[in-house]
Amino acid sequence: MVTTSYARQKDALETYFDRTAAAAWTALTGTEKVSPIRETVRAGRARMRANLLDLLGADLSGQRLLDAGCGPGALAIEAARRGAEVTGVDIAGNLVALAQERFGEEANRVDFKVGDMTDPKLGNFDHVVAMDSLIHYRLADVVAALSAFAPRIERSLIFTIAPRTPLLATMHAIGGAFPRADRAPAIQPIALAALDRAMAAAPALRGFQRGRDLRVQSGFYTSHAVEWVRR
Ligand SMILES: C[S@@+](CC[C@H](N)C(=O)[O-])C[C@H]1O[C@@H](n2cnc3c(N)ncnc32)[C@H](O)[C@@H]1O
Repeated sequence: MVTTSYARQKDALETYFDRTAAAAWTALTGTEKVSPIRETVRAGRARMRANLLDLLGADLSGQRLLDAGCGPGALAIEAARRGAEVTGVDIAGNLVALAQERFGEEANRVDFKVGDMTDPKLGNFDHVVAMDSLIHYRLADVVAALSAFAPRIERSLIFTIAPRTPLLATMHAIGGAFPRADRAPAIQPIALAALDRAMAAAPALRGFQRGRDLRVQSGFYTSHAVEWVRR
């Protein structure tokens, strides 16, 4: 296991995504009408997914890709359509089942698995993509998870964080005022400069260098993608 706090947060996220919020995630990632606020989140997430796929490229023939924290599978399926050999892994079995139900026959193009994204048994890949699946982990745990992937990744690590902006810092502080039982596991805002420093200092990531980055802001959705590529 990566670190003790990673393991603890992973268990909380499994409960949240697999049970507490499974219905909300089904709605948010589907096509049915949602509230105007959620609509901005849905639009932002669609843009981020498109941007991450653009970072990977239009033709992914023969490339092995791990969609780490794949949720209901939209990115995994699109990468498979572009020719990649895709494994999608998520700790929330209900969301993986939803991916299989939503994409029917096409879901067979992706090797969907239920489990922890850092499990070495998943094998070796050219790329790992973690779209919004590390945003609930503290900086040290994000770097530890990426370090766990590193020896098994030949080309790039692509992931998103919730950037530390004044608005997010305020929402984080307000979230802290609610009783624990009533709220989702808090998103952990991370300052980009601190992320870059921590990544550059991580021994397991020495073979990688910082690549491109981009931010998507859409109403209540703010997410920042960062790429680290093999030197
Ligand atoms: C915000 S959702 C994003 C899902 C998907 N990447 C997308 O963009 O639609 C975060 C996902 O990460 C998964 N997750 C969090 N920690 C994980 C871990 N350690 N291993 C596997 N999945 C994890 C959650 O279960 C959840 O489905």
